Amino acid sequence: MDFKIQVTELKDLRQAPADALLLLVGEGTEPASLGKALGGLLTQALADGDLAYKAGRCLYLHKPAGVKAPRVVFAATTGDSPKALRAALQAGLAQLKAGGARHLLVASALAAPLNAAQAQALVGAASDALYTYRHTKPSAAAAPKLQRISLACGVANTAAVRDGLHLGEAIAAGAAVARECANRPGNHATPSHLADEARRLGKAHGFEVQVLGRKEVEKLGMGCFLAVAQGSAQPLKFIVMQYHGAAKAAAPVVLVGKGITFDTGGISLKPAAEMDEMKFDMGGAASVLGTFRAVAQMKPKINLVGLIPSCENMPGGTAVKPGDVVTSMSGQTVEILNTDAEGRLILCDALTYAERFKPAAVVDIATLTGACVIALGHHRSGLFSPDDALASELERAGQAGLDPCWRMPLDEEYDEGLKSNFADMANVGPRAGGAVTAAMFLKRYTAKYPWAHLDIAGSAWKSGAAKGATGRPVPLLTHFVLGRAA
Ligand code: BES
Ligand code: MN
Ligand code: ZN
Repeated sequence: MDFKIQVTELKDLRQAPADALLLLVGEGTEPASLGKALGGLLTQALADGDLAYKAGRCLYLHKPAGVKAPRVVFAATTGDSPKALRAALQAGLAQLKAGGARHLLVASALAAPLNAAQAQALVGAASDALYTYRHTKPSAAAAPKLQRISLACGVANTAAVRDGLHLGEAIAAGAAVARECANRPGNHATPSHLADEARRLGKAHGFEVQVLGRKEVEKLGMGCFLAVAQGSAQPLKFIVMQYHGAAKAAAPVVLVGKGITFDTGGISLKPAAEMDEMKFDMGGAASVLGTFRAVAQMKPKINLVGLIPSCENMPGGTAVKPGDVVTSMSGQTVEILNTDAEGRLILCDALTYAERFKPAAVVDIATLTGACVIALGHHRSGLFSPDDALASELERAGQAGLDPCWRMPLDEEYDEGLKSNFADMANVGPRAGGAVTAAMFLKRYTAKYPWAHLDIAGSAWKSGAAKGATGRPVPLLTHFVLGRAA
């Protein structure tokens, strides 16, 4: 999708050279400001009850008199928050997506002119709405004809809208990378595929990529990661990505993404229902790839490292068994009581590996627990951090990216559940508070740097009729990284 800015005053919209016009309207809209033709249509629609300023309401008009564009959509918003505008655009685009429009001009007819945060939200929403998965379904609904979306703004606020558009575009491109990668089935998106994708992105967008295989991982002593990978015929990969935007000596931010390309549960096998969704268990890894794509486009003055431990979690004759004890790279031993709690096992070794970068902060991102979905549902990602400053930074990044998270506790009492008679810790605790015990497990590997953990089990994909990856939390992570550079 090609996003542009079109400097146009509201009153001139009826002459605008696009073949579709989407007007965001609400309580603050002065119909007269839209000129006679469009203003008249709006007043009439409201009076006839065919449009109301309620969330989700919109009206499509085909070839209305007095307007050059052959398609006009009025999309109602309640208030002018970026989130409200995003919802209105989503509703409006649903009307236009399957139609013949090629160039859509989006304009805000609300009281205040479009600002940067609103522009960013609109670009994100449009890019999101127009994505279609095709890799293994080339017959998917014909691609929308829309080629270009322009944001209308006045001369006075062009610079702000341009900034919002650029950031929105970078985030949208990153989220699309994450979505596409996570949507691909387990037999396509293997650990080797993730490594290839990282290399391809690194070449195209200018960051360094190094891929370690089994031999190197053995040498590093990553006993937990190796234990998870040992049941699979697919070779494991440990992907290291480095974006250099600041002085060599500047401490980097490190992102660690869970890259389980399929989670059967291993010997602690999962039930059959919905097991297909465990192809999304590399959503954390996908979000790290996507964030690198976005960050490399924005070129902030910061150093960023991405670590992706990637393998399958399979049962079989060579698979790790309940009760097996392994030694992590940190030297701590782990009794694997449940082979389905594999995410924390691959992450703990990656978190120890992160120490070598002397990081300013480490954030891991993982589809870690079903318990987090029970706690928070699908709207907010779970955020865990013993560091108040880092936690609030991530909360703010989530708000700015309309990709929200919610802080969860890490009291030491939760740690007791991880006691083992045969190792330094067990890999599972009691069922209650499962998202917290998982985070407590990771915390034991993060003493050397400020650390936060995002449990994205509820936010990384949707189930049901709209099954598919969401591209989250690329917006949150991108805002976080850019905020650190500022
Ligand atoms: N990948 C799953 C977490 C998950 C489950 C995400 C369902 C989304 C939906 C993870 O590896 C897992 O299996 N976690 C277990 C942990 C348990 C064994 C302590 C879980 O949540 O059931
Ligand atoms: Mn699992
Ligand atoms: Zn998993």
